[in-house]
Amino acid sequence: MSNTRVAINGYGTIGKRVADAVDAQDDMEIVGVTKTGPSFGCDLAVKKGFPLYCTSDDPERIASFAAGGYECAGGLSDLLASSDIVVDCSPGKHGEENLATYRTVGIKAIFQGGEKHALTGLSYTSSANHAANLNADATRVVSCNTTGLSRTLVPLHDHCGSLKVECTMIRRAADPGDSKKGPINAIKPVLKVPSHHGPDVKTVKPEIEINSLAVAVPTTIMHVHAIIADLPEGHGLSTESVIDLWKAQPRVIVMAGEANRLTTTAEVMEMARDIGRKWGDLHEIFVWEDGVSLQGDRLYYFQAIHQESDVIPENVDAIRALMGTETDWRASVARTDAAISHYYNL
Ligand SMILES: NC(=O)c1ccc[n+]([C@@H]2O[C@H](COP(=O)([O-])OP(=O)(O)OC[C@H]3O[C@@H](n4cnc5c(N)ncnc54)[C@H](OP(=O)(O)O)[C@@H]3O)[C@@H](O)[C@H]2O)c1
Repeated sequence: MSNTRVAINGYGTIGKRVADAVDAQDDMEIVGVTKTGPSFGCDLAVKKGFPLYCTSDDPERIASFAAGGYECAGGLSDLLASSDIVVDCSPGKHGEENLATYRTVGIKAIFQGGEKHALTGLSYTSSANHAANLNADATRVVSCNTTGLSRTLVPLHDHCGSLKVECTMIRRAADPGDSKKGPINAIKPVLKVPSHHGPDVKTVKPEIEINSLAVAVPTTIMHVHAIIADLPEGHGLSTESVIDLWKAQPRVIVMAGEANRLTTTAEVMEMARDIGRKWGDLHEIFVWEDGVSLQGDRLYYFQAIHQESDVIPENVDAIRALMGTETDWRASVARTDAAISHYYNL
């Protein structure tokens, strides 16, 4: 079977990582990546050997790349014409316009969590609904927070048969490379209650009853979730067996905080940098083992999310789902992770 030809529309924080992860797979290849115009991010594409295209077909914008010293292979239409699928990594809210373009060309498309579920009517997380996405025309990989919630809640739900969840998202204020957002000296509650994060889990696993609150805090490196889950009677679980359940899941790391001196997100990210993945990424969700406690039917735990990277392998799996090239989500996840988990696995 020939490789899936993948276009990346939007080579920013998420796009450059998805491009790299796709490039590492042996069943897909990058046709090209887009930028709005010349900037330092173009150098990375050049270094990687990814052809550079413009997000627009406007000849003046295409020509601006040459003025900045970069070779531009064409506009978005040129890129789409030679690709099987496009991963849209544009900033949120461009989805509607971009989807219209993709539909005109007749190309499959994957969007990111900055877009609403309604855009495609279909969302994706490997462990929750790979099968429902098979051969679809378009989907949305859910946000970093929703991906994180799904990683630990879906296996719990599948074990118990039902689940009621309340959670608080303690959100980083900005990405590390972002100088525009805040707060820098405040804690900012999200006054839209419930926040969209918990209910968004229902777009991939409607059976989970879940609501959330969110606060933004002045840190850039990770989100933390404080989660309370009510398990149904007769769940048969203990604190230890919940931990074992998560340890058996792909893309979930459960480690003792105190014993390993990993009690904050700063140490967790330092450990991630030690692992040696590109950009110091941590694709897995980190659960503090000593913060897990099942009291009666009520489960308490904390988890940390590396916002720029947990969704990256999900995009690779979503490509296989939409192209129909791998029907088994666990097989896809294993294949994806083997190709991108450099240095060593925990
Ligand atoms: N950052 C995260 O932690 C994170 C985590 C999960 C999901 N997401 C979601 O992923 C998506 C991308 O976020 P990001 O953080 O990667 O944004 P970003 O760093 O701002 O990158 C966006 C990229 O899209 C390009 N672009 C601008 N307008 C475009 C258009 N109309 N069509 C196509 N591309 C366009 C930009 O080009 P230039 O480089 O030329 O400006 C840039 O390369 C959003 O939906 C976001 O919500 C982000």
